[in-house]
Amino acid sequence: MPVARAPAPRARQAIGQKDHRMPASEPVEGNAAQIAYWNDRAGETWAELQARIDANFSALTALALEAAAPQAGERVIDIGCGCGATVLDLARRVGPTGSVLGVDVSEPMAARARARIAAAGLAQAQVQVADAAAGAFDWTGADLMFSRFGVMFFAEPAAAFAHLRRQMRPGGRLLFACWRPLAENPWFTVPLEAGRPFLPPQPPADPTAPGPFAFADPERVRQVLATAGWREIGVSPREAPMRMADADDLDGAAAFATRVGALARLLADSEPETHRAVKRAVREALRAHDGPDGIALTGSVWLVSARA
Ligand SMILES: C[S@@+](CC[C@H](N)C(=O)[O-])C[C@H]1O[C@@H](n2cnc3c(N)ncnc32)[C@H](O)[C@@H]1O
Repeated sequence: MPVARAPAPRARQAIGQKDHRMPASEPVEGNAAQIAYWNDRAGETWAELQARIDANFSALTALALEAAAPQAGERVIDIGCGCGATVLDLARRVGPTGSVLGVDVSEPMAARARARIAAAGLAQAQVQVADAAAGAFDWTGADLMFSRFGVMFFAEPAAAFAHLRRQMRPGGRLLFACWRPLAENPWFTVPLEAGRPFLPPQPPADPTAPGPFAFADPERVRQVLATAGWREIGVSPREAPMRMADADDLDGAAAFATRVGALARLLADSEPETHRAVKRAVREALRAHDGPDGIALTGSVWLVSARA
């Protein structure tokens, strides 16, 4: 699935220059395309649609947080924390005697996360802009490392997860959510199939390339974590409704599906006319999923657990 659009140098500048609190540490060279992607339109869109994205992810988030089981007083690192939804959840759970460090490469999303932390008055939470694969973290010795869809974007995942393991106390827990294969995720495939007739044919995607489906194969996840030195690795399937909009709000659901997710990536550089045609087709395809509780389709994830 194509992801990279902006050139790498801009990302380096964004990371190095805007955040004066970040300790000097070079991002991993191979991560430059993803860093650029999340600092460009994608990061801005996620920041703009934060409330809608969080509502969409809320059922899966509850499952992941329950499995992570953060305790009062714990030190937690949230990898690829984005606009901070789970930083806030984790901070409330660890309470004022604990601490939460969100780490993300995206300046616009980190800014949104920091504003939300300040508004919530959660002094135990902070966000650092850094490449989680290589960054010098503000603190180490975490009890829990958590991520909601923020760890599938590393060019060298085994090296990245070895670096992440070194941020943990011995025996500390890892819990992250990542997407199962595209075909098991109707919330991606229904909009995608509706839009496909209007889009140029796509070359087959490299299933291990950095991107939302890089960890779709559970054996690959196990292998990456084992190579990185994590122990007691578990990979469990979970499903939950992804609520894309309120009941009857087909326009809202179609707008959402064309701006976030697999279809949004394909549409990124399309003409406005194509965009409008795809949106109309997606709107019709979502009609069948409009129910009294809203417009919702199934999302399927792996909940991955391990110990440092
Ligand atoms: C799919 S978004 C998920 C964001 C957030 N966890 C959520 O659920 O709303 C993926 C996030 O991973 C971040 N990311 C990608 N590569 C990263 C890296 N090398 N280090 C830290 N964050 C990264 C992106 O900037 C983005 O915020």
